[in-house]
Amino acid sequence: MLGQVARDLVLRVDDVPDPYGNATVRTRREMLGGKGGNQAVALAQLGVPASLVGVVGNDSVGARLLEQARTDRVDVSHVISREGAQTALIVDIVDDTRRWRYLEHIPTDVRLAESDVLAASTVIKRAGWVLCQLQQPLDAILLATRLARDAGTRVILDGAPSGSADDIAEVFSRAHVIRANEHEAELLTGQPITDVTTAADAAYQLLDYGPTLVVLAVSGAGNLFVSRTGRQLFPLLDVDVADTTGAGDALIGTFTAALAHGEGTRRAAAFAVAAAANSASRLGGRPVLRWRDLAADAERLAP
Ligand SMILES: Nc1ncnc2c1ncn2[C@@H]1O[C@H](COP(=O)(O)OP(=O)(O)OP(=O)(O)O)[C@@H](O)[C@H]1O
Ligand SMILES: [Mg+2]
Repeated sequence: MLGQVARDLVLRVDDVPDPYGNATVRTRREMLGGKGGNQAVALAQLGVPASLVGVVGNDSVGARLLEQARTDRVDVSHVISREGAQTALIVDIVDDTRRWRYLEHIPTDVRLAESDVLAASTVIKRAGWVLCQLQQPLDAILLATRLARDAGTRVILDGAPSGSADDIAEVFSRAHVIRANEHEAELLTGQPITDVTTAADAAYQLLDYGPTLVVLAVSGAGNLFVSRTGRQLFPLLDVDVADTTGAGDALIGTFTAALAHGEGTRRAAAFAVAAAANSASRLGGRPVLRWRDLAADAERLAP
């Protein structure tokens, strides 16, 4: 997958302090994160060989993150350690009501450039699937999706890109699956996603770009999977939410892993939603996924 690699620092506090105030941190976790990191770890945990294409700085934090990724059995041979760059840092502050606030330091030079994608062209062409996180620069995504299309690698896109309408249309036309949360879907279609009906409208609009499947989150309702032949809403699972950070990454990572394992769309969707709920029940974006833990929920969602 192509995406951000970052050091995630997760801090649980009772309440976020006002200016000049302070707060005691109840729980502190530091982990390999960023959407690319989270998605790669999800696939590796589910037994699917995953190559990460991303950028860290050539600093000690970057070295540590790569070490962690190797321990997670993610192939990092296409992660660039950029000379002179600072590895991205994302601070995730979660309060007692489980609301998060992110402080993000993602320097421009630890985002993917076209040359980084070119250096990874062999792995992109060889892969069955390429999963792209659309917050990366669009020129890099354009190149990755072109390489993928020419090689017959299927493309899954997550998020909302920024760029010209023509470039976005080109990237989307190469996708097999497009997935977005409510906010991203609104950015993409210009229409607020307030319920299943508005989500379905947005999904049909996105299907016009050419993908086979569109997956949209619907606040308070669940996740809607829409193709030309039908649609299905998978409701939110009843879990004690700790932090929704990374739940979208767990969802799309698991969906991709299930397809790679040969599951059909409906079963893959059920596993994906089970993984999202599992991720929401833990602090931080780093997944802890095993098929057998997801099986009961998946079975219920798609018997
Ligand atoms: N209890 C739950 N059951 C099923 N799915 C859930 C549950 N809680 C959250 N989700 C799903 O998790 C996903 C969160 O996605 P979203 O893209 O907003 O987060 P993310 O990618 O993890 O983080 P970011 O906000 O940084 O992109 C949504 O699809 C949402 O429906
Ligand atoms: Mg997301």
